[in-house]
Amino acid sequence: MLDLKLYLLDKRKQIDASLHRILETAPRPTARIVEAMRYALMSGGKRLRPVLCLAACESVGGNAEHAMPVACALEMIHAYSLIHDDLPAMDDDCLRRGRPTCHIAFDDATAILAGDALLTLAFETLSSREIRKKVHAEHWLDIISVISVAAGYKGMVEGQMRDMLAERQGCLLLSELEELHLLKTGALIEASVCSGALLGQGSFDQIVSLKVYSKNIGLAFQVTDDILNVEGDPLIMGKGAGTDQHRCKSTYPSLLGLPEAKEVASRLIAHAIESLERFDHKANPLRAIASYIINRNR
Ligand code: IPE
Ligand code: IPE
Ligand code: MG
Ligand code: MG
Repeated sequence: MLDLKLYLLDKRKQIDASLHRILETAPRPTARIVEAMRYALMSGGKRLRPVLCLAACESVGGNAEHAMPVACALEMIHAYSLIHDDLPAMDDDCLRRGRPTCHIAFDDATAILAGDALLTLAFETLSSREIRKKVHAEHWLDIISVISVAAGYKGMVEGQMRDMLAERQGCLLLSELEELHLLKTGALIEASVCSGALLGQGSFDQIVSLKVYSKNIGLAFQVTDDILNVEGDPLIMGKGAGTDQHRCKSTYPSLLGLPEAKEVASRLIAHAIESLERFDHKANPLRAIASYIINRNR
């Protein structure tokens, strides 16, 4: 029986140590920009995307150690997206992971640059010698392609754009909101799982199943984020609650009501777990993470 708590603790420790090492090799590790990058990156996030990358690699029989640079790159992209998401021109939030957001702790310009720097450092990390030695060249380029498409204007950036436009537009249709969530949050989660599976040299069929898994958990993750925004405890979440309603945002709870939104999230997770039917015990962490996604309180 897998102890998910221990599994997450262990993986997070390894991820944090690797991220720390990467930032330490900066030419001027105490420069203001590196301080701001470190502030946003090393602040107690759940590390879901890198954990998914490592777990997906293991699920197809790969060595998770080889996936670590890719896992770190995914977390850097996530951290950049949160810095920019919190800026006054976007969500204008002052609390993240229980601390002042990057632009409050530093200033807007430094926060913008720290985001830019983390995004570019992700691709520096993805193209580093360390990873080139461990991964077959063809897979390696596929991984870079999958991650860049997911992070950019065909994925997360487009999702963020639609999120901003929706605030002015009023009520969305459920189908529009689903697409928005799949882009804004789902794309990077899908890329995390797929890049891990590519690294582990998963078969075509395995990757097809993992895509179904990751689409379902990606959407469920954002539906749960919407639910927590209504009924979560800001002290546990480390970020504000009630902000979606305050901004009149279309969310799963606002369109469907809380009970139905929770039903949707549970159904998505059931589909995700079903899609792993042909995987053996090596996919147990992925199965457990799927349930954790809707049962989390932060
Ligand atoms: C928050 O992501 C932003 C969304 C995409 C919903 P996480 O909930 O994974 O944030 P951290 O990294 O754990 O703080
Ligand atoms: C953040 O989404 C998504 C990205 C940064 C891509 P939200 O704005 O809904 O998430 P929180 O509530 O700020 O974490
Ligand atoms: Mg936002
Ligand atoms: Mg936000």
